[in-house]
Amino acid sequence: MLTIALSKGRILDDTLPLLKQAGIEPTENPEKSRKLIISTTRDDVRLLIVRATDVPTYVELGAADLGVAGKDVLLEYGGQGLYEPLDLKIAKCKLMTAGPVDAPEPTGRLRVATKFVNVAKRYYAEQGRQVDVIKLYGSMELAPLVGLADKIIDVVDTGNTLRANGLEPQELIAHISSRLIVNRASMKMKHAEIQTLIDTLSAAVDAQQ
Ligand code: ADP
Ligand code: PRP
Ligand code: MG
Repeated sequence: MLTIALSKGRILDDTLPLLKQAGIEPTENPEKSRKLIISTTRDDVRLLIVRATDVPTYVELGAADLGVAGKDVLLEYGGQGLYEPLDLKIAKCKLMTAGPVDAPEPTGRLRVATKFVNVAKRYYAEQGRQVDVIKLYGSMELAPLVGLADKIIDVVDTGNTLRANGLEPQELIAHISSRLIVNRASMKMKHAEIQTLIDTLSAAVDAQQ
């Protein structure tokens, strides 16, 4: 049995066409179902529906053999406990700093609101800049508007969300796409099945470009 952890929304939407190329189709619609374990058209494959930020945890601890997670989530999760054998080239965006349009760079200690606390601390440490990082779980764009923070760190795609809130993108931290991740023990114990799946997905990614 291969267990694959996925999150609802864009990762599921963009991963299902790739999995289909490997003969893996959910037997019920994961977006509609209240079930969190979804069987597939392959008897040896099942899907777990988890929060995007929880995918690395399920895979590293072996509750799932494989998963699909954004590189932003993986950068924040950190650690060396996972294989990351394939860039699926889906859910592309950029991890950026952003702040109010034309705001002067604050002098002194910078206040940065983000859900990517570890990424933020690492980024500003590399720059030798003193910052207070404020952990939020969403709606980061609000923070500079109400004086909670000077800047945010978030993913940016079209820039529409920033623009709608009077913010502008500033520094690029990383280009982001979603990655296939694999549990280390599974990679050894189920090597043939997993390698076959990686090869099929890799071909599907290339065909999609
Ligand atoms: P969440 O509910 O945690 O925000 P999403 O489904 O929105 O999960 O995002 C999953 C992944 O998709 C993120 O980790 C990121 O890599 C990527 N992503 C997030 N927002 C966008 C976007 N606006 N455009 C493209 N990719 C995105
Ligand atoms: C993501 C992200 C930004 C937005 C960026 O939110 O958190 O707010 O997309 O995309 P844009 O540059 O094209 O506007 P998402 O749509 O995932 O909503 P969420 O708050 O539910 O995560
Ligand atoms: Mg989101």
